[in-house]
Amino acid sequence: MAGPISPTLFPEGTELLENDIVVGGVSLRSIAETYGTPVFVYDEGALRARCREAAQGFDDGVAFASKSFLSGAMAKLAHEEGLCIDVATAGELDLVLRVGVPADRVILHGNNKTIEELRRAIDAGLRRIVVDSFDEIDRLASLVSPDNHVACLIRVTPGVEAHTHEFIKTGQEDTKFGFSLATGDAQRAIDALRAVPGIEFVGIHAHIGSQIFDLAAFGETVKVLAELVTSNGVKELCVGGGLGVAYVEGEPTIGIPAWAAAVREAVTTAAIAVDQVTAEPGRSIVARAGMTLYTVGTRKVAAGRNYLAVDGGMSDNPRPVLYGSGYEAVDVARPQAERDGTFRIVGKHCETGDLLIDEAALPADIAVGSLIATPVTGAYGYSMASNYNRALRPPVVFVKDGAARLVLRRETLDDLVRLEV
Ligand code: LLP
Repeated sequence: MAGPISPTLFPEGTELLENDIVVGGVSLRSIAETYGTPVFVYDEGALRARCREAAQGFDDGVAFASKSFLSGAMAKLAHEEGLCIDVATAGELDLVLRVGVPADRVILHGNNKTIEELRRAIDAGLRRIVVDSFDEIDRLASLVSPDNHVACLIRVTPGVEAHTHEFIKTGQEDTKFGFSLATGDAQRAIDALRAVPGIEFVGIHAHIGSQIFDLAAFGETVKVLAELVTSNGVKELCVGGGLGVAYVEGEPTIGIPAWAAAVREAVTTAAIAVDQVTAEPGRSIVARAGMTLYTVGTRKVAAGRNYLAVDGGMSDNPRPVLYGSGYEAVDVARPQAERDGTFRIVGKHCETGDLLIDEAALPADIAVGSLIATPVTGAYGYSMASNYNRALRPPVVFVKDGAARLVLRRETLDDLVRLEV
């Protein structure tokens, strides 16, 4: 039996009332009535606060990792709060430029950038390209000229093992990303970039993985890179993203300021003299600011287990299926109630693996028609959403100062047939 859900899983300032949850001054019940379910809700104040923490903790050039959650409104918000935007595909790049983020505030990533992606980045005048392979250096060399130049970082594999899920750790040697430090490829890549007129080599980037709670792993990365940074007179060091967030009760909350302080301390200890220490937080900016609302449609017992089926599932949150990620749930109409029942919360997709929460604590008498919220779904939920079973992607609503605004509408059946020829 679990007690009431912890307010720390919601954006700061959230009110868990007797009969409703109020986020950004807006009732979640009213959002479900207005926009229907499933629906993603983000507290705009919390998004802005996290962006400001990143902008203050790191130097100019710190970027929001847009893969964690991207919409036009989010790109504009991150830009307004002083962050650059990190994009990794033509699709992400196109959206941020379309909504007016200046090209010199955009950074392009990717381990297999196409010539078209590189051309668009160079022609638009992007701030930085983070180079990932020797093949990419060849492609870049064919595109740049002294009049059409570009500033580049190289992505380095530092050989640091982060303690996180195997699919989202990237700092180890056996990886598709970046240039190995240990084999000398990183130095060879720097030399190759420097030999191309039109490419300005400015810095070193490392991203060791995601959902990392161990700040020492970031310090270790800085230490391991120090020699390469110093011997090449590098101007910029980017430590990537990866700060972990608490998804369920009892997980630690570290926060962006402490992360930035740990990175800066490691830079000082390693006596690295760069102009800019930057990072690319994604999850730590958007995860806790966002939540998903669902309506319970079916309750049944099978093999002694209580099942609740909701009107979404792996199409709006594939993380439990992909990574075995845990979440909490709350009955929005009584957030202070004891959660004395245990339920497997499943979606409406045609497979057994379509699971949102394996063992969710909820009031035992929760009924069909109840509105439930899963907090901390702001990162890699909407951005990895799919149309599996031709599900319609949910809308996204931003709340702030008592007002709600729709930033992405719900998909329609007409949207689903727009690709038919
Ligand atoms: N920079 C680079 C180069 C990245 O590849 C990533 C994430 C980030 C920054 C942002 O990392 P964050 O601060 O969000 O941890 N879909 C997985 C996460 C994949 C992360 C991919 N790269 C999940 O849902 O957990």
